[in-house]
Amino acid sequence: MTELNKIVLKIISNGKGILAADESNGTMTKRLGTVNVNSTPENRLLFREILFSSECMQDCIGGVILYDETIKQISSFGKSIPDLISSSGAVPGIKVDTGAKDLANSSDEKITEGLDGLRDRLKKYYELGARFTKWRGVYSISNKYPSRLAIRSNAHALARYSALVQESGMVPIVEPELLMDGEHSADVCLSKTSEVIKKCFEELILHKVDLSGIILKPNMILAGNQSKEKITSEEVSKKTLECLNNSVPSEVPGIAFLSGGQSDLEATENLNLININNNTNFIMTYSFGRALQQSPLKVWSKNLKDKEITQKTFNHRAKMCTLAAQGKWVRELESK
Ligand code: 13P
Repeated sequence: MTELNKIVLKIISNGKGILAADESNGTMTKRLGTVNVNSTPENRLLFREILFSSECMQDCIGGVILYDETIKQISSFGKSIPDLISSSGAVPGIKVDTGAKDLANSSDEKITEGLDGLRDRLKKYYELGARFTKWRGVYSISNKYPSRLAIRSNAHALARYSALVQESGMVPIVEPELLMDGEHSADVCLSKTSEVIKKCFEELILHKVDLSGIILKPNMILAGNQSKEKITSEEVSKKTLECLNNSVPSEVPGIAFLSGGQSDLEATENLNLININNNTNFIMTYSFGRALQQSPLKVWSKNLKDKEITQKTFNHRAKMCTLAAQGKWVRELESK
């Protein structure tokens, strides 16, 4: 087993999943704005360190993705944020892309930037304690999109990023996210997601990326949020498994889904059924941002000093997600 593969397994084995707390300051300002909290560095740190010092960090959360500001912050306990995370047994990670920008000659689409100077930035993040990284390619779905141009250029960037990250001794999370926005059916989401993921692996292989040392972070297969089609969680799980079965090479150890705007419960239930029906050798877990943080954020915003209730809410969500990552979640547990 390689060192990279060991890191992957430490993050996602035994029902553990990933807390995606890597919102950029812009996104975090929007999230805090929805609950009327001022987006200052102190408030962003306060909320995050409450999460990172919760009990579930030991049993449920295998890795935390941080943003550049947070990985350099010192918690109020005097420890650096990566040390705080490592001391609970979880692995600190870092978002290293610099965001999705308009794609030239297809300006309704995005290309993710951040390759320039990446090798040097990776060295610094490693020294700060990071052992895995994230890069998100984002694609919209419509009749025309994603275009071949968006599919190829984002796959190329994801592969160049992954090769540099492995060279620096860290595990890349490869995140191609097809957005849920639109009127498309779940079958269209399935075929486009398969096409995007296949292209990513073609490029990863060309760039000699060690597939046993990556984590794939895809979207689940859903109908568009403006589609009339209503599909059950059972169908979501079957279509998601069909997609991954036909597009992900077997060397990949694990898949950690993004929540992508689903409600906490939807994301949890879908992940649970994916695991119950899992007919692959891939570990299937979560790398949720909103589906782990929106309920604790709401509670915290009512009283920024009430650490206990915020942690209780976060512990509950993480526990539900970890049960779902083992196919052991049942709805009744939500109200306990
Ligand atoms: P969501 O789970 O809120 O989609 O966030 C995950 C993530 O990291 C998106 O890049």
